[in-house]
Amino acid sequence: MSLLHLQGVGKKFNGLTAVSDFNLSMESGELVGLIGPNGAGKTTVFNLITGVHKPTEGRIVFKGEDITGLRPDLITRRGIARTFQNIRLFSKLTALENVLVANHLRLRSSPVEAVIRLGRYRSEEREMIGYSRSLLEAVGLAHVAGEQAGSLPYGQQRRLEIARALATRPSLLLLDEPAAGMNPVEAQELMDFIRQIRQEFDLTILLIEHHMRVVMGICERILVLDYGVTIAQGSPADIQKDQNVISAYLGVETDA
Ligand SMILES: Nc1ncnc2c1ncn2[C@@H]1O[C@H](COP(=O)(O)OP(=O)(O)O)[C@@H](O)[C@H]1O
Ligand SMILES: [Mg+2]
Repeated sequence: MSLLHLQGVGKKFNGLTAVSDFNLSMESGELVGLIGPNGAGKTTVFNLITGVHKPTEGRIVFKGEDITGLRPDLITRRGIARTFQNIRLFSKLTALENVLVANHLRLRSSPVEAVIRLGRYRSEEREMIGYSRSLLEAVGLAHVAGEQAGSLPYGQQRRLEIARALATRPSLLLLDEPAAGMNPVEAQELMDFIRQIRQEFDLTILLIEHHMRVVMGICERILVLDYGVTIAQGSPADIQKDQNVISAYLGVETDA
């Protein structure tokens, strides 16, 4: 059984088609790339999977259960986490606090319970601080745990976003252009890091990325979107020689 299955998924915004007839099955442990020009619908696919938007058509099945149109927090609880194209950290909070905030999603105590049963809340809180520290360690940020997120260098903020996503203990991680704004060396480092966390946290990963060389190097399989339509899918080698992809996208690629 696939971990994630999207079947005929489509999304229209005010009659305008952002994604149409999108199909994807991911097995546990896979690392799949989603590429395509700006406006192709890549982020919309993430927003559909995570419940930010409800699909106009089609259905989304995760771990054998239909999650189509489910509330984002419930989807998070089932094991899907993401990062954002534009970094969304609490810049005034410390790195550790940023991870802790995400961790609260997993708190068994509701806010009301928390007041009534402070004892249990406190022990969960202690456990969570420990877990958050271990996540910061795993992403190489233990030494900046107490620093304001907004003051960290860009690459570290990207890693902190990933640590925060990991705090909800996902099995599926969606990364939206994690290497955006990085030079090719930093991007390559980040890809090595992504491979490492896949291993360490037993993750299945769907990756949107513009740095072509790194996408080709890290993904086992790639889907190419153009104007909301999947114009190609296959191994990196297949994608690189696909004429549709070259004319729609790779031909104009500047990086990479
Ligand atoms: N919330 C929204 N409301 C209206 N249009 C949207 C919304 N989100 C995305 N779109 C449109 O959907 C298309 C795909 O956008 P997006 O998924 O962000 O592309 P990509 O991530 O591939 O650059 C674009 O034309 C964009 O303007
Ligand atoms: Mg996008």
